Amino acid sequence: MPPTPAAVESGDRSHSLIPVESVAQISTVLENTDPELDPHLAALARQAAADGVVLLRNDGSVLPFGTERPIAVFGRTQLDWFAVGYGSGGDVKVPYSWNLLAGLRDAGVAVDEGLAAAYTRWTTANRPPFDATWGRWPHHFPEMPLDDELVEAAASRSDTALVVIGRAAGEARDSVLEPGSWYLTDGELAMLDRVTAAFARTVVVLDTGNAIDLGWLDRYGDRIGGLLAAWQGGMEGGRAVAAVLAGEIPPSGRLTSTLARSYDDYPSAGNFGDPEVSVYAEDVFVGYRYFETFARDRVVFPFGFGLDYATLDVTVAATTTTVGDGGRVRFVVDVVNTGGVHAGRQTVQVYASSPDGALSQPARVLAAYRKTGLLAPGGRERVVIEIALDDLASFDDSGATGQRGAWVLEPGEFRFFVGADVRSARHEASVTVDALRVVRRVAEAAAVDPATPFRRMALARDADGSARVAWEDAPTATVSRRERILAQLPVEVPPTGDRGIRLDAVRRGTATLDDFLAQLSPEELALLARGDLTMNSALGTPGNAGVLGGVAASLREKGVPPITTTDGPSGIRLAAYASLLPSGTALASTWDPALVRDLAAAHGQELVRKGSDVLLSPGMNLHRDPLCGRNFEYFSEDPLVTGRMATAVVRGIQSRGVAACPKHFAANNQEASRTRNDSRVSERALRELYLRGFEHCVRDAAPLALMTSYNKVNGVWAHYHHDLVTTVLREEWGYRGCVITDWWMESATDPDFPALDDNAYRVRAQVDVLMPGGVKTDQGPQAVADDTILDSLARPDGITLAELQRGARNVLGLALALAPVVERRIGATR
Ligand code: BGC
Repeated sequence: MPPTPAAVESGDRSHSLIPVESVAQISTVLENTDPELDPHLAALARQAAADGVVLLRNDGSVLPFGTERPIAVFGRTQLDWFAVGYGSGGDVKVPYSWNLLAGLRDAGVAVDEGLAAAYTRWTTANRPPFDATWGRWPHHFPEMPLDDELVEAAASRSDTALVVIGRAAGEARDSVLEPGSWYLTDGELAMLDRVTAAFARTVVVLDTGNAIDLGWLDRYGDRIGGLLAAWQGGMEGGRAVAAVLAGEIPPSGRLTSTLARSYDDYPSAGNFGDPEVSVYAEDVFVGYRYFETFARDRVVFPFGFGLDYATLDVTVAATTTTVGDGGRVRFVVDVVNTGGVHAGRQTVQVYASSPDGALSQPARVLAAYRKTGLLAPGGRERVVIEIALDDLASFDDSGATGQRGAWVLEPGEFRFFVGADVRSARHEASVTVDALRVVRRVAEAAAVDPATPFRRMALARDADGSARVAWEDAPTATVSRRERILAQLPVEVPPTGDRGIRLDAVRRGTATLDDFLAQLSPEELALLARGDLTMNSALGTPGNAGVLGGVAASLREKGVPPITTTDGPSGIRLAAYASLLPSGTALASTWDPALVRDLAAAHGQELVRKGSDVLLSPGMNLHRDPLCGRNFEYFSEDPLVTGRMATAVVRGIQSRGVAACPKHFAANNQEASRTRNDSRVSERALRELYLRGFEHCVRDAAPLALMTSYNKVNGVWAHYHHDLVTTVLREEWGYRGCVITDWWMESATDPDFPALDDNAYRVRAQVDVLMPGGVKTDQGPQAVADDTILDSLARPDGITLAELQRGARNVLGLALALAPVVERRIGATR
């Protein structure tokens, strides 16, 4: 998406962050930025940012910092802190922001002031070279050169060094395999060389949105005693990380994606970054599903891993299993803090493995998890975790089990592992399924185009039973899309012309939605199928991402309100100041859906206060590849973590009467060439991974809106994807909400229905609204609407009035759900 008036106004965000140096200063700063900012929201943001910090190494208990001797803090990122990544998910006008140095002082950590003064002088004189052009933002900032004198002087005053490394990536800005992005720069390595030579103990904080290379850890061996992944924690992030370093808040974050030895170890590595095509050849073996099966030795820090200051033992106290229909496994697990000093929180994780059978299976798959409360030394908590066997079913897209198109449990032993990360979880129970069980049968959807076949990863076993990568043909589509659509065309509501029924009558129950719809002319229905023509619409709150619904006077006269949408996952992106919250990866790393829900509820309240109706959040794509620029917005490589976090966000936001809009549906896992790229992926991997998180969220949280993605999925742009949006989302999962495009769309003619171009093609797929509403040309988006819907309607083989009505019904459903909030706002501005 190009820069928008809103983006330009909120501007050069990374360096317009208003740094604060003390809690006392915040209230003064807020007087000029956001005087009504909810302190409870800020407190929850701090808690979540702290709980998302993952402690990866703590040799000799170098952490938490003691108070006796000062800490020498190195690295410019201590001041030029990356609070968030780039693009729509980061471009928030932040009322204030903590950097790490200020956070450390706030937490009462004595820092070496001589060194801090040197960094402050240097960073003030050497502002980061910030290219604010959309998509060109810097991945890193060059380091301050260190001389021996400065380092030795600091080492004479301190025993412990803290080195801060910063990175960012973002929308239209993937990480790249270069120093300063995936790799450390020479300046950073020189800093680590000098510091680790001079100090007995060095702790490294990674302030990054994405994973980065960790190969350098070997170079320093045990000279790096502590390592933390801080992620990007928003405006309270610097203070939150400091609270963890100081021991005020115990680390309790856990990795939501595997950290491997080198980039080439990731199974997607050969299939990422091409402008035209991404073949998801690794199939279901994404992240830990791959590493635990085929490449255990290539992992530096496994999925689910995180250290504590406390010692938190996990013991299974009782196991109950039931087999047959509705089979379940139930674990009663005791977590005991056996350490004598620190409090802590444990995340009990249960993994499952399916038996070898016709379908290739990962060695372990996360089946459930539960985080304890804060356990004081000696404290204990009993958690009960129950897993339905049917939830472990695999999708047979090839017919290998004899049940093509079904979710199945193959016969054999299902093993369950309980512990505190994927690697160390211990085998605690098994359930044997006697015969193939079909859990659910579904319609084939979004399968691989036979014109573009590919080979996918599969599992083979050597004679000694060890797993080996094998390859097989990914199954290709067999259904006729044209026949499927023609068999399901909706029935028209006979038009009545204007009968004076307003939308509020539907709300009051004195008219039906169909009574209202029947009055709308084709022109009005076409207006409901697109947003207002530009971002920052005059119909919405200044700086909005776009407005839909009452985009024309005739609709507003009938009581259809303009509905304001705003980005995005980490904050409300408007011309006004708004809170910057922890990014998606930081939130997910808390493994605490209850906390995330509370935070999202406070965020929803802020959305109401700021005058927006739909938050374009959460970002739900998987961390398929560590270089994807938007990984910071997304939660995890695992669909269960993703689905549960997204459910928490949606429930929280919607508890305040406004709408969430999960995105990007689906398989938007690369930023380079994202509007052209074709994600070629098997139906099994789609259903078990890339759609699975959305499925959890749709079924459990009923988001009022949902956004398609820019990319193609098996040859069809997501905004035209009937199979994804109608067959799977609406018919199979029962979704009743409003589906919108990601911003603008690509022009195309429906290959099965040549009388349907662009917006007509889209409406047939049940992608209800083009956002914003103008057309995209080679010169960029234009503030004009095309005529494709009405042109197609006029043709005998074109789009039908009933299809237009069906889309309009979804938009009006959103308007009705939002009516109380919208009315209050419109009333307040009258
Ligand atoms: C992004 C979306 C965002 C939209 C509106 C697009 O470029 O992909 O995530 O919500 O812009 O800003």
